[in-house]
Amino acid sequence: MSITIKTPEEIEKMRIAGRLAAEVLDYIEPFVTAGTTTETLDKLCHDYMVDVQGCIPAPLNYAPSGYNPYPKSICASINQQVCHGVPNDRALKLGDIVNLDITTIKDGYHGDTSRMFIVGEGSIQARRLCDITFECLWLGISVVKAGARLGDIGAIIQKHAEKNGYSVVREFCGHGIGQKFHEDPQVLHYGKAGTGIVLEAGMMFTIEPMINAGKAAIREMADGWTIATKDRSLSAQWEHTLLVTETGYEVMTLSAGCRPKPDWIA
Ligand code: MF3
Ligand code: CO
Ligand code: CO
Repeated sequence: MSITIKTPEEIEKMRIAGRLAAEVLDYIEPFVTAGTTTETLDKLCHDYMVDVQGCIPAPLNYAPSGYNPYPKSICASINQQVCHGVPNDRALKLGDIVNLDITTIKDGYHGDTSRMFIVGEGSIQARRLCDITFECLWLGISVVKAGARLGDIGAIIQKHAEKNGYSVVREFCGHGIGQKFHEDPQVLHYGKAGTGIVLEAGMMFTIEPMINAGKAAIREMADGWTIATKDRSLSAQWEHTLLVTETGYEVMTLSAGCRPKPDWIA
């Protein structure tokens, strides 16, 4: 596979798919409450995407080689779960932190975004992990620009996570996106500045750091999808889909309800 450069027409379609994915997260936020199951959140998001937005939920039956088809329409990863959490009948409880990851397909193009939600207030530790991970995402975004290198993104994310006593998950990364869910390049959330491919205007990829409060090691759960921290420490993740431009970047997955960029980041 090679990296596709999107045409203006494709970019416009990606803007629409991206905004719709973000709007699913806006829609679901009030339902993320104690007593609600992630299966219920999955059903609500599925119906919103299909019936209201006219989208296809990309995760449903998604089957990369070596995996069984993904059985649900969203990923819901709670507390020590890192990513790809399969919605189930366990009810959320006060203090849980949950990542909801939405990928829409609209008019043949994908929009991919995720946010952290806290059920109730959450502990100071949980809130700090979610906030620092959000800063990691935006620090990564802030260095995107034609002429920058892919390694610049991973380096700034890793530095901020480790400076704060956290670790970066290595096994999963951001990815090119467009007509396919996962395209080249792989966008690592760790690494060395000044290394990797040179970014070009028209490239489109996600940044989606998974940051653990404890060690970086992960394990796969028995369902074959859900990934959790090996040491059972909390894990957080935020994701946006981005376009590289000559002067910087454009975020595809913005919506009225998304958390704004931290004001101290350029
Ligand atoms: N949305 C995830 C990502 O950001 C991928 C989920 S694949 C699924 O890349 F099959 F688990 F949905
Ligand atoms: Co993604
Ligand atoms: Co995603």
